[in-house]
Amino acid sequence: MKQLIAGNWKMNASLAGSETLVRSVLDGLKTAPVCDVAVCVPAPYLAAAQRWLAGQGAVHLGAQDVSQHASGAYTGEVSADMLREFGVRYAIVGHSERRQYHGEDDAAVAVKAQRALAAGITPIVCVGETLAERDGGHTEEVVRRQLAAVVHLNGHCITEIVVAYEPVWAIGTGKTATPEQAQQVHAVLRKQLEAASAHADRIPLLYGGSMNAANAASLLAQPDINGGLVGGAALKAADFLAIVAAAR
Ligand code: PGA
Repeated sequence: MKQLIAGNWKMNASLAGSETLVRSVLDGLKTAPVCDVAVCVPAPYLAAAQRWLAGQGAVHLGAQDVSQHASGAYTGEVSADMLREFGVRYAIVGHSERRQYHGEDDAAVAVKAQRALAAGITPIVCVGETLAERDGGHTEEVVRRQLAAVVHLNGHCITEIVVAYEPVWAIGTGKTATPEQAQQVHAVLRKQLEAASAHADRIPLLYGGSMNAANAASLLAQPDINGGLVGGAALKAADFLAIVAAAR
């Protein structure tokens, strides 16, 4: 399977800065990358980003969240169908920052994945343990519980999802899981997906958490790591391009 490198810009960059970043990434990809590439931009920039990305096939557009509701009186929410209108190909769901600051639980994340799938958008389902959970020996139990909710609701089309393992203690901290630590969890997730589908080998498992130009190659070389969800390093074109270049 092709690896996937997805930039998660979070709530960063002005509109002008975003355009510069997208254009620099596109310039750097004059020769088509061997992996899939996506940029998950802030929602207000989706229309502009769709224009910047028009007419090329190397970089896909992604959103950082999607509403669990189809439509209606949900002030501030953005539906999967709305995202689809802007050519959105991927939507991050269940990022730890959404779970932590916006109270999203496993059930809500599963419904978000379902909404995205129904709109033809690939959900990038994030799972990951906190430092306390890791120190308490609960890493596997936590990520399995988080993924199980999504599998339970979306079992029939589970091969259409992407999973991102993002240990919370590694996000934005400069502390990366070692390739071995990440691979260990990825193997657990792969096994769980294999129990749900005979084609689980088609589901990309991304690693996220302080991935950068220096550590990407060793992480991406692990057998069950099929790409990266990149935060901070996705805000600098050169760093993001170096990670794309390290992917297969
Ligand atoms: P980071 O963020 O690369 O800045 O650690 C990754 C993420 O939160 O998706």
